Amino acid sequence: MGLEPTYLADRAPQLARFQRYLAGFPGLPRNVRVTGLRGVGKTVLLQRYGRLAEEAGWIVVGRECNEHLQQEAIFGQALVEDCRRAVEQSSRALAFKQRSQQVAQKALDLLGSFTISLAGVTVAVQPNARPGRVPLLEEQLFTSLRLACESASAAHRPGVLFCWDEAHLLRDSGNHRQFPLGLFLAAFARAQREGLPVMLVLCGLPTLTDNLARAKSYSERMFQAEELGQLRPPEDLLAFTKPLELSGRKFDAEMARAVLQVTGGYAFHIQFVGALLWDAVVWPLRITKADLDQRRPTILEALDQAFFEARLARTSSTERSVLRAMAASGESAQIHDVLKLSRLPNQTAQQLIARLRDKGLIYRPQRGRLTFTVPLFGDYLRRASRHVSGGSE
Ligand SMILES: Nc1ncnc2c1ncn2[C@@H]1O[C@H](COP(=O)(O)OP(=O)(O)O)[C@@H](O)[C@H]1O
Ligand SMILES: [Mg+2]
Repeated sequence: MGLEPTYLADRAPQLARFQRYLAGFPGLPRNVRVTGLRGVGKTVLLQRYGRLAEEAGWIVVGRECNEHLQQEAIFGQALVEDCRRAVEQSSRALAFKQRSQQVAQKALDLLGSFTISLAGVTVAVQPNARPGRVPLLEEQLFTSLRLACESASAAHRPGVLFCWDEAHLLRDSGNHRQFPLGLFLAAFARAQREGLPVMLVLCGLPTLTDNLARAKSYSERMFQAEELGQLRPPEDLLAFTKPLELSGRKFDAEMARAVLQVTGGYAFHIQFVGALLWDAVVWPLRITKADLDQRRPTILEALDQAFFEARLARTSSTERSVLRAMAASGESAQIHDVLKLSRLPNQTAQQLIARLRDKGLIYRPQRGRLTFTVPLFGDYLRRASRHVSGGSE
């Protein structure tokens, strides 16, 4: 995952927009929210964003989020750490003069003291929030961002870009009195309001949008939304054919079109099927439609193992019955139908749905509906249950 493709298909519009956003700083600060199902190409796009920003002179720091960041103190440490990395990158820049080194050293000292105080909070964290703790953290987050930006400016860099992947794992919890996302958005919005050259790209599953909106209602206006799905024609075809052409491999156009049907035009699926076909047909033989037809069952089986089964392995058998009830409707289902079909008591089914959502397997695109986070997961579940019933006959 996140592997740089030989040919980056269907991303010209996103990259052009991102270039414009960069050029708009500092007068018109903007942030980007990239959402999409698993394997649609979010991480690859995030890396491209990072590279474009670096080429334009920006200081870029990347991070892959995890559940631990749902705790304020750990979140704080992570952001301070990212800001420290930004300061260090700036101080390595050639344009950095003696006087600026002092700016960097002061910033590093202060960030170091934040880390120590936040580490103390981690140890001493109480379920009952002490008054005064929350504003203090927001202040630390803001100051960290300010220090990172000041160092970048001292190095004559246009700004600091934060690229955070898997950001759907960030969320606030009233029950646990942990509001890292809200504090972060507040600190970030303030930094941009005060003219600091800082930009945020958050990337994740579609639940990211909801988590952000719940943390801060103004988040909707803070981010430019990029929603990724299947690669669009004619680029979907090129995602498959260009790498073959570039490497001088011969193939039938009919085979390439059939691959699009198998893959539904999803980036990961296209790369996966391409890799298997490449290996299955001995170089330098032409890859034909017959090759695909003959290997279709093994290809699907390999796809199931690589992409789907690993995810299903993390579910209990009752959770699976809910997934299968969903799959009966396709890739997305009305909750009402799922409840009816699973024949579980309403409350049990709702609990199972919540658990599957926490495991990142499904989400609610709108009220009363459920969708798989993995593209073509419903297709897989129907195929798998046919196997099971076929096997027992
Ligand atoms: N625009 C694209 N064109 C062709 N292949 C792509 C594209 N974007 C991603 N891929 C390929 O699809 C796979 C999944 O991409 P990744 O960025 O990891 O997806 P996500 O982060 O959304 O799960 C990788 O093998 C990657 O090389
Ligand atoms: Mg990814």
